[in-house]
Parts: sequence; structure tokens; C-alpha cells
Amino acid sequence: AREDGRRFAHHTRREIAEQPEALAATDAALKGLALPPDVVACDRFTVIACGSSLFAGATAREAIERAAGVTVDLEIASEFRDRAAPPRGIAILISQSGETADTIAAMARFRAAGLSTIGMVNVRESVIGRTAELVWPISAGQEIGVAATKSFTAQLLALMRFGIALGEARGTGDAAFRTRLARALDDLPRICTEAEAMEPIARILAERIAGEEEALFIGRGWGAALAQEGALKLKELSYIRAEGYPSGELKHGPIAVIREGSPVIVCTPGDAGQAKVLANASAVAARGAHLVALTDVGGAEAAAATAAETITMPGDALVAPFAQAVFLQLLAYHTAVVLGHDVDRPRNLAKSVTVE
Ligand code: G6P
Repeated sequence: AREDGRRFAHHTRREIAEQPEALAATDAALKGLALPPDVVACDRFTVIACGSSLFAGATAREAIERAAGVTVDLEIASEFRDRAAPPRGIAILISQSGETADTIAAMARFRAAGLSTIGMVNVRESVIGRTAELVWPISAGQEIGVAATKSFTAQLLALMRFGIALGEARGTGDAAFRTRLARALDDLPRICTEAEAMEPIARILAERIAGEEEALFIGRGWGAALAQEGALKLKELSYIRAEGYPSGELKHGPIAVIREGSPVIVCTPGDAGQAKVLANASAVAARGAHLVALTDVGGAEAAAATAAETITMPGDALVAPFAQAVFLQLLAYHTAVVLGHDVDRPRNLAKSVTVE
């Protein structure tokens, strides 16, 4: 039982519920951390990670680039470790455990080239936590469920706070955006509590998805990255074949697999980015897909005109990645529960992959 007396059937479900605390603790851990001069001077960062940590980097990239006016590249650690291209700039290694072999190997390439590394870890006493020149920590608390939940949103928060701190220190990027984002992030514990309260809706959707053989998740910008995380979560926990795709790419292949009733989950913010996602989504709807749109209050009306179902998450477009992440976790969790799977220890998977 938790302090608030709630009991959960699985660690994974409890960890989904712990996101408000995990986010508040991460903010507390980051408070007062200063960026060293070489980081402030850098305008090109490479996020390197695996699994959900990689998708956290991908989801936060847009916010960092806008807040700080820098370029953020993304690299899959297992691919980057074998690349011939010389490392450039500063690496941001994102790893809950700090022990993922491929991420450690990618880090070694930066260090061998004499370049700085930033470790974003949950476990301070880990290889990446001990080796990185700068640790920009998350403080999500121990995560037992194999599938990342609270560590994912804590990584998103830490990355966005990094972008804000970097933009302020450099004096580059969009200052008004930084102010709005910083204020929105302060409100995250409440947003995540409200998102968790949408569990009954996630459960109903899970019952339908549990009867499907496949699911497609789409979005643009951060929504494309979050779509990949939503698909990964569903795969990991329910073993249903799921794909996350940038919606602008649908016409280059994935639209061919759409049949009558194919479930398509759309991650869309209620801001300027929405119209393009919805235009892409309506093209799959026209081929018979059953569209479920996740959005915020600003986007609900437009989404409802396109999607068969619209799920309006708490908060505005700035915090939409967090609210939608919580919902996607609940969706994957309940789909696995309906199917009777071992949610905390999915088949074939390990919490930390310490071999190449
Ligand atoms: C494994 C876990 C994932 C995790 C990934 C990266 O695949 O099952 O949940 O996202 O490793 O782990 P890391 O500790 O480096 O974040």
C-alpha cells in the first residue's frame, strides 16, 4: 500500500501512479544545478539512448531546440557505437539504469574523442552516473516494472528543464517559450494525477485493443516520438504488434496496411501543429481506420471532427506529452491485464540490458 492507502495489483501500476512524486522529486534534484561553461558554449547535442529512454529524448527534442536555440540529434546507442562518423559536440546519455551496455559503449566513443558527456540517469551509482562529466539526474525512485513508466516522464521533465537552463545560460532560443514552459512544468504533478484519473477510459479502450492483432500510433514532432513510445509500451506489455510512425510518412507505406476497423491512435496537441496531424489522420480514416485521438482541450473540437473517438487530456499543449504518456501507459497496462499477461515481467524482456 502507498502512503495514501491505495493498493495496486502490480508494481507497474503503482509506478504509473507514482508519477506526481517522481516528477516533484526530479525537479527538487535539479534545483540549483548549474551548467558548466563547455555545455553553455555548445550548440549541438547528441542524445544517445535505448528503448523508452531514446523515445524520451525524441519527445523532448522539440522543446529543447526551441527553448535553447540549439540542435539536438538523436542516436540509437546500439547503432551509434559502430558508426564510423566521428562524434561531435556533447553527448546526452539517457539511461534509467545507467548500466545499458550499448549506451555505455556509445558514451566511450565521445570520451575517447575528448568530448564531454552528460549522463541523465535514475540510478546515480551506475556506470553512466559515475563516469559522465555532468550528471543531470532524474529522481523517479526505484522502478521495478520492466517497462519504463515513471522514469519516462521524469526524463521528459529533466530534458525540458535542461533546455530551459541552457537557453537562459546561453541567451539563445525563445525566451517567451521558456517562461511559458517553465510555468507549465511546475504544474505537472497535478496534470499527471488528473491524467491517471482517466483510467476508466483507458480500460474501455484496452478491452477493444486486446481483441486486435495490431495497432498503429501516429503523430508529428513530439507526437511522432510519443507515438513510438505508446507502440513500444503496448508491444512490451500486451505482445500486440504495434507501430509508432510519423503521420507525414503514412503515405509512404504504412497506409497500405490499413483495413476497415484498424485501430489508429493519434497523439495530437491542440496547438498549431494539430492541423497537419489531423489531415494525415483523415487520410487513414478514409481507408476505414478507427481513429482514436488523444488531445488537450484546445484540440478537442478539431480532433472530434476527424476522429471516431476523441480523448481530451488535462492541461494544455505544453504538457500534452506528459498527460498523453500517462494515458498510453494505462492503455498498455490494461490491455496486458485483459490478456492475462505478467505485466511486471513481460516475456523475453529484461529491465536493464547489460550485454551488447
Ligand atoms: C530495457 C528496458 C526498457 C528501457 C531500456 C533502456 O529494454 O526494458 O524499459 O527503456 O532497456 O534502459 P535504460 O536503463 O538505459 O534506460
